[in-house]
Amino acid sequence: MFSYSSQLKMKILRCSLLLRSPSSHLTERNRRRGRVVERNHARNGFEVLFNCRVKRGLAIRTGIRTQQQQFSTHSTPARLAGKVAIITGAASGVGKATAAEFIHHGAQVVLADIQHELGKYVAAELGPGATFVPCDVTQEPQVAAVVDLAVAKHGRLDIMYNNAGICGPMTFAVTDVDLTEFDRVMAVNVRSVVAGIKHAARVMVPRRAGSILCTASITGLVGGLAPLTYSLSKAAVAAAVRLSAAELSNHGIRVNCISPVGLPTPFGIKAIREIFPDMEEQRAVEMIELSSAELAGTKCEVEDVAKAATFLASDEAKYISGHNLVVDGGFTTSKRLKLSP
Ligand SMILES: NC(=O)c1ccc[n+]([C@@H]2O[C@H](COP(=O)([O-])OP(=O)(O)OC[C@H]3O[C@@H](n4cnc5c(N)ncnc54)[C@H](O)[C@@H]3O)[C@@H](O)[C@H]2O)c1
Repeated sequence: MFSYSSQLKMKILRCSLLLRSPSSHLTERNRRRGRVVERNHARNGFEVLFNCRVKRGLAIRTGIRTQQQQFSTHSTPARLAGKVAIITGAASGVGKATAAEFIHHGAQVVLADIQHELGKYVAAELGPGATFVPCDVTQEPQVAAVVDLAVAKHGRLDIMYNNAGICGPMTFAVTDVDLTEFDRVMAVNVRSVVAGIKHAARVMVPRRAGSILCTASITGLVGGLAPLTYSLSKAAVAAAVRLSAAELSNHGIRVNCISPVGLPTPFGIKAIREIFPDMEEQRAVEMIELSSAELAGTKCEVEDVAKAATFLASDEAKYISGHNLVVDGGFTTSKRLKLSP
């Protein structure tokens, strides 16, 4: 006779063997023993067999978790469960990080970007919750088409995140402003945002619900941080958000923006290297992180913006509209006195 503890050990051993052994062999063996074998497909594609008796009895008592529990990505409640989102500029940086965060919180995300190959790659990396659609946000018909595709594929649009942006030439002097470049930056950073708000509203107004987000920047709040053209484009984004929020609140739609501090994305690195052409990429990253470091012991990362976007997009922010959420560790709150003895 085996003691209860040795029986328990044997069952644990059998359970671990069941999880490791080739499935066909196990199925046959368990059929012969007259046991019901339950087939369970793990999220990552590995097929795992569970012996029901072990699973129901011993596994529960010994704390062995089911596949669903083991591979669950939702340790916290999904904030965007069942929601459908579009993110422009989602092949890289803030947009990519936000797509990952939205999917983590249960959303279906349409990634729109001008970088086709990278966008497709990122969508594949993010899994079945992501779809890539090529889109140049300066072309209104393309923005309209992305909105229509999201509705055709998922039945509705809950979140529109107008995030795509460029920095334009890094010439700081107002006297050097190139008005052709000015038009280009405005087309990508502002005109596209208006197109995004317009076409999202087109499908959200009839449903009397939706959340529109835009990426602005602290450079639109404080002068001297970036060239006038870029700063002005971001100030215009924040203005477009407030002004459209005023109208769209009548239809139950919220409109908000996020203003991040400098981030070491391809955008940020390119901007720094335009000022310092010989600078190594790693040094540019450090420079971005150090130049705006305000909050001791940490630094601003794309995930910080993604989390802010998730909050604003979620029902937790159901009464927040027309807001510009600054993600800068307090950078724009400080201005030092020029004291000298
Ligand atoms: N990085 C920073 O320091 C910083 C700080 C504040 C705000 N922002 C803003 O954040 C947003 C995202 O930038 P990021 O830092 O993630 O840079 P990023 O370069 O990593 O991503 C920008 C994305 O926008 C896409 N894009 C550019 N033009 C486009 C167009 N015409 N149509 C469609 N997609 C287009 C790019 O292909 C790219 O994938 C931008 O609006 C930027 O102005 C950036």
